Amino acid sequence: MATLQPEDLFAPVLRTERLTLTLFNMNDKDDNDFMTMMFNAELPGAGPTDGNWTDKDIRRLSYSVMLKPSDAHGRISKDPAVYIARLGDATGSPIGVLNLCRRTPNVPVDIGYMFKPEYRKNGYGTEGATRLLQYFTEEFGIKEICLVTDDSNIPSKRIAEKLNLVDGGYVMMGSNKCVVFVLPGMKKLEGQDFPFWGDGEEPSA
Ligand SMILES: CC(C)(COP(=O)(O)OP(=O)(O)OC[C@H]1O[C@@H](n2cnc3c(N)ncnc32)[C@H](O)[C@@H]1OP(=O)(O)O)[C@@H](O)C(=O)NCCC(=O)NCCS
Repeated sequence: MATLQPEDLFAPVLRTERLTLTLFNMNDKDDNDFMTMMFNAELPGAGPTDGNWTDKDIRRLSYSVMLKPSDAHGRISKDPAVYIARLGDATGSPIGVLNLCRRTPNVPVDIGYMFKPEYRKNGYGTEGATRLLQYFTEEFGIKEICLVTDDSNIPSKRIAEKLNLVDGGYVMMGSNKCVVFVLPGMKKLEGQDFPFWGDGEEPSA
């Protein structure tokens, strides 16, 4: 069987009323600097080597949770499904990150997001997540998407509601129980293992 070649699969730019979402370019220094800053701010001390997140860690994580051919019409993307949210047009200041990740075959791909603290509570999280979900379900054609969050994460649970997601049971991130929201009609999760780092695979190239 011929080996699949990574290709451009995802829309490079998605627009909302106030934001432009640009596909994360792992070869772009500004994109890498922004991602690294966001991970260090949001998940301090959780970088895999010494706690501090580096470009290399972000790259490893991004590859490790990339959508699989079974998620993507039998094709393989050269990019992770990660978008940087910018104010205004594609040259605007980056204020957040939105992503779709494949962590394990046992849990549908999950949507995630983080925004810079000073831009929160302005509806940007909802606006970006709504567009990402719309793109991947209606335009790209993924049928099953979930949202995994801490039960204590009020804004994230509110976004789930605003995305019209419904109770999807729970998964375990290590010993931590996380609540799940799913698209209507999907099966509920029942405590499946949800590894943050995905399968750990990296492309050989
Ligand atoms: C989750 C997150 C992206 C939300 O971003 P945001 O831009 O503030 O979201 P929105 O402004 O669209 O707010 C969504 C809803 O949550 C509410 N909300 C936002 N922050 C809140 C807070 N700290 N406490 C209570 N409600 C809050 C908003 O009022 C809004 O509800 P409403 O429409 O009924 O008023 C942001 O808080 C964040 O980056 N958190 C850290 C990372 C994280 O937890 N990510 C989710 C992991 S699954």
